[in-house]
Order: sequence, then structure tokens, then C-alpha cells
Amino acid sequence: MKTIFESCKFGPLKLKNRLVRSATWENMTTENGHMTPRLYDIYKILAENEVGLIITGYANVVTEEQPNPGMMGIYDDFSLTDYRKLTDSVHKHGSRIILQIAYGGTKTTYNVGERTIYAPSNVPERSTGTCGTPMTKKDIKYIVQAFADAARRAKECGF
Ligand SMILES: Cc1cc2nc3c(=O)[nH]c(=O)nc-3n(C[C@H](O)[C@H](O)[C@H](O)COP(=O)(O)O)c2cc1C
Repeated sequence: MKTIFESCKFGPLKLKNRLVRSATWENMTTENGHMTPRLYDIYKILAENEVGLIITGYANVVTEEQPNPGMMGIYDDFSLTDYRKLTDSVHKHGSRIILQIAYGGTKTTYNVGERTIYAPSNVPERSTGTCGTPMTKKDIKYIVQAFADAARRAKECGF
């Protein structure tokens, strides 16, 4: 524990200490995955209180796929201004922030039946029982591109 407040490297990132907030879905965005004042406050408080690295809860990469309510969205350029404000508020305290980008797939029971959920096959997922739509090559390309676009947006916003 004596090194906990010493700086260290995490891959290419230099961190001011070894305190990490593990990825946590807060269920605090708007319905569309936009930031809210409560959510900004959480990240500000973490950064103010010496958390050197903050990993966000997972952010969905395509509009139609939100596996949990209140999760962040990074599927569109709408989010760029909001997320820049978020990363600025964290960087101001010398902390770093990583956006976790994800496609939840069949690991969900949220809004099932109302949206397309891609999966490798039509075998139900063991823990949720949710059955997805087997992906075509075109679907796979679509999701790969969505991840690439989300990563580009995250970088542009300072994550
Ligand atoms: C409320 C809650 C939300 C979570 N959300 C995410 C998430 O969005 N992404 C993720 O990878 N892990 C998520 N996790 C898992 C945590 O990041 C962590 O791995 C887990 O809680 C185990 O760590 P612990 O033993 O320190 O509690 C979540 C955990 C909790 C309790």
C-alpha cells in the first residue's frame, strides 16, 4: 500500500497514482444516453478525490442497441460537446478517464423483443436466456465500423 499515491504507467498512460475507479454503469443518463448534471458530478467528485484513473460505465456504439437503461451513448456526434466537458472536468484534477465502449448483445434482458440484438447464432445466451439474431457478414461490418467510429469520437473528446 505504500506506493498507492505514487505515479505509475498504465500502458501508454501516465497516472498520478494507483487508484482506479473500475467501469461502473451509473444508470444516470437521459433516455438517449446523454450526460446529466448528476453524472457530471459523480466524475468530478471522483477526480477531485484523487482517483487517478476513472473508467466509465459502458457506452453503446449503435443507437438501437442500449442493453441497460441510463447508460452512456457514443453512437453519434451529438455527444462530442458533452463528453469534452466531462473529460475536461476530470483532466483539470490531473486524473485520466477511459471510455468503455461496448456492444452488449444477448447479455441483457432489457427491452428484448423491441430491438435487434445481434449474436453469433440463435442459441440463447446461458445466463439471460436472450436469443439474438445471427449476424451476416454485412452486420459484422456494420458493428466493426460502429466501434471504429466510437473510438474516433472518444479520442476526439479527450478520453
Ligand atoms: C453497479 C455496477 C455497475 C457496473 N458496470 C460495469 C460496466 O459498465 N462495465 C464493466 O466492465 N463492469 C461493470 N461493473 C463491474 C465492475 O467494474 C467491477 O469489475 C466489479 O464490481 C468487481 O469489482 P469489485 O470486486 O471491486 O467490486 C459494474 C459493477 C457494478 C456493481
